[in-house]
Amino acid sequence: MYLLNKYPHPANCEFVTDPGACEDVRTIRLSIDAGKGDVYRITAANPAIWQTESIDTEIAFEPRDPSRRETGNTNLELNSAGQIQFSDGQGKLLLESVPFFTFGVSGTCWLFTFRMTADMQFFGLGEKQRPFERSGGSYKFWNVDVWADHSTKSVRENKYDPDYISIPYVIVKRNNTYIGMLLDSPCCSFVSLNDRRMKMNQLTGDKQPSFFLGAENGPPSLFIVYGPSLRKLTRTFHRLVGTGSRPPLWALGNHQCKWGYAAFSDLTYLADNFEKHRIPVDGLWLDIGYMDGYRIFTYDKKHFADPVKDIAKIRQRGYHVVPIIDPGVKRDDNYAVYQNGKARDVFCKNPQGGEFTGIVWPGLSVYPDFLLDECRRWWADQVARFAETGISGAWLDMNDPACGCVDCTSMLFRNGALSHDACHNLYAVLMAKATKAGFLKLQPGKRTFLISRSGFTGSQKYAGNWLGDNFSNYFHLRMTIGKSLNLSLSGISMIGPDIGGFGGECNAQLLIDWVKACFLFPFFRNHADLSSSNQEPWVFTKRTLHITRKFIRLRYKLLPYLYNLYIHHECTGDPILRPLFYEFTDTRALALAHIDDQFMVGPAIMQAPFVDEQAQRRKVVLPKGWWFDLVGGKWLEGGRNITVKKHDASTPLYVRDGSIIPLQKGVRRDNRNDLNDIELLVAVSPRFRKKAHYTYVVDDGESFEYRSGVGTEYDFTARNVRGEVRVDAVARKKKYGAVTYSIIDVNCSGAALF
Ligand code: NOJ
Repeated sequence: MYLLNKYPHPANCEFVTDPGACEDVRTIRLSIDAGKGDVYRITAANPAIWQTESIDTEIAFEPRDPSRRETGNTNLELNSAGQIQFSDGQGKLLLESVPFFTFGVSGTCWLFTFRMTADMQFFGLGEKQRPFERSGGSYKFWNVDVWADHSTKSVRENKYDPDYISIPYVIVKRNNTYIGMLLDSPCCSFVSLNDRRMKMNQLTGDKQPSFFLGAENGPPSLFIVYGPSLRKLTRTFHRLVGTGSRPPLWALGNHQCKWGYAAFSDLTYLADNFEKHRIPVDGLWLDIGYMDGYRIFTYDKKHFADPVKDIAKIRQRGYHVVPIIDPGVKRDDNYAVYQNGKARDVFCKNPQGGEFTGIVWPGLSVYPDFLLDECRRWWADQVARFAETGISGAWLDMNDPACGCVDCTSMLFRNGALSHDACHNLYAVLMAKATKAGFLKLQPGKRTFLISRSGFTGSQKYAGNWLGDNFSNYFHLRMTIGKSLNLSLSGISMIGPDIGGFGGECNAQLLIDWVKACFLFPFFRNHADLSSSNQEPWVFTKRTLHITRKFIRLRYKLLPYLYNLYIHHECTGDPILRPLFYEFTDTRALALAHIDDQFMVGPAIMQAPFVDEQAQRRKVVLPKGWWFDLVGGKWLEGGRNITVKKHDASTPLYVRDGSIIPLQKGVRRDNRNDLNDIELLVAVSPRFRKKAHYTYVVDDGESFEYRSGVGTEYDFTARNVRGEVRVDAVARKKKYGAVTYSIIDVNCSGAALF
């Protein structure tokens, strides 16, 4: 039996340029708005077909000022045949729609079709399974509770779609030129890059293959963005959808979680063990068991005799407590949160006007209607009150939204005025927005840290994400890289998997491989299922403890670098994790675009971890330039492939020539940070003729003072003068004190990090 995912097909549409189109379709006009930079918005309106009540997806589109000539490099127009043509400044065609099939409508469903050229490769699309390159696939964007909506086998083997996070943003790569296409629709949307399966030319009669993208509902809106490089495209895209803001410093540390951690005694067990084994950790996480009968915003008295005092004890030891918060509110007349929400009329309605009810951990549960401003205010109040217990952030789960075995489509929004479909993919973002508002209400001057399961275009403004429920196997480990890279290109930079795997049983070797592969991921948290055995670093062998500890300590050592990457991300949109073709030109001689088992952490560090179970050797692609091999302790010439052997105690790690990397001093045995007293790892080979530059920023790691220009900022430059590295520093600001630094010259002691 074949199992095919189902998608709308253009054959069931009527097209705007088709003379035989139905009445409604003939009245549709496509409009094009040119935005600042190379951004265009194509919309269609017809109140008879699409709901007109506005749903704000918070896209920051800035129309071009018509009175000023834009210096944009591109032009997008509808020609007389109703065809969209997008060309660069020289008039070279970048993208065009399929003649006579530009825009089609089938009921409330709408789509755009485009010609696919032989040089096109596709990336992005947020959270999707392998392959990293999306060409040839068809994808649906509808946030789901993956384990509830797909078979265990398909999840275990990574063969499912859709996923928890929906970002309908396609990156079209044509050699080294890029086009971004973003569907601005929180409804179920789709992208089909599978011309052969969809038999598109049987329909269009066009000689060229084609691809299409659209949504099942809601007002049509498509953004088209241009980038002469992936970096430029990604920066422009982030200007539209927003960037993740500077996290508190502790959020970039190590986190430990397990479904089953529920009590104060679990937190002390963790603190004791991390201290005993001298492994730095910052976040200790509580899963659903901490609550009183799974009633959100409560603590079970059995587990926490006095939550405020208990959590304060953990904070005094230097750790942050992060509890899970689900959206489902137990339907229980004796429960204050429910009573209060009911009184303020903030729960979603069903078609009969009653409270929409799903079945999650507490049993019958109602759902906050985050589309209502009043509901977000109510939720923020609950969060602010709950946060008074001393928690440092929140873990937002089940916000796809998960309703157990109840179909969520009868969950209506804005007092029943908006269909579920119209808003589905926005649920998690708005929950995160309201949660952030709650933390800020309590402590307006403190940065919040939220990690969410589901997400949508722009959700990075409010929360980071983890990759949801993965499995303890090498499929999932391998897939983590490509998935995280595409998410990073699609706006979500604060990302990481459940280290060790959530479902099934982890083992000593898998934990080692997972830690080594992800120790520099933006979000680093070990987490496992209730039925899985514990998988903390100390539960396996001495060797596992020794190796995982070493890499966690190395993460802390590199924290100044990671933190500064995030600072840079907030201003520019450059992600933390980057595919190789973000930093280097993809050439025929050294193809980079398909590589999904290597990645850059910022501009300076390249990792090529072992993510296949059997592999004892692997190929590493070294892009052009010179690379310092931190394991072998020598410079390697790039522009070629090399083969490396697997070693238990190390992982292939390379520093790009011309880099300056700030490190914390010495071996990090606990989570104390000192960003003012650092080591600078200077990787400038004798062949590097230019000056290396690096701007290093220090702040207090927790406030928003930086937004008013306050900080410590140093510009470092380094040169290699006849084999000797010389470093200069200029202090631009010193609000958070001076920076003292010592130099580690890789040429002399580069392998010392290992
Ligand atoms: C589902 C989440 O994805 C998982 O991480 C969590 O442990 C369980 N819910 C229980 O809360």
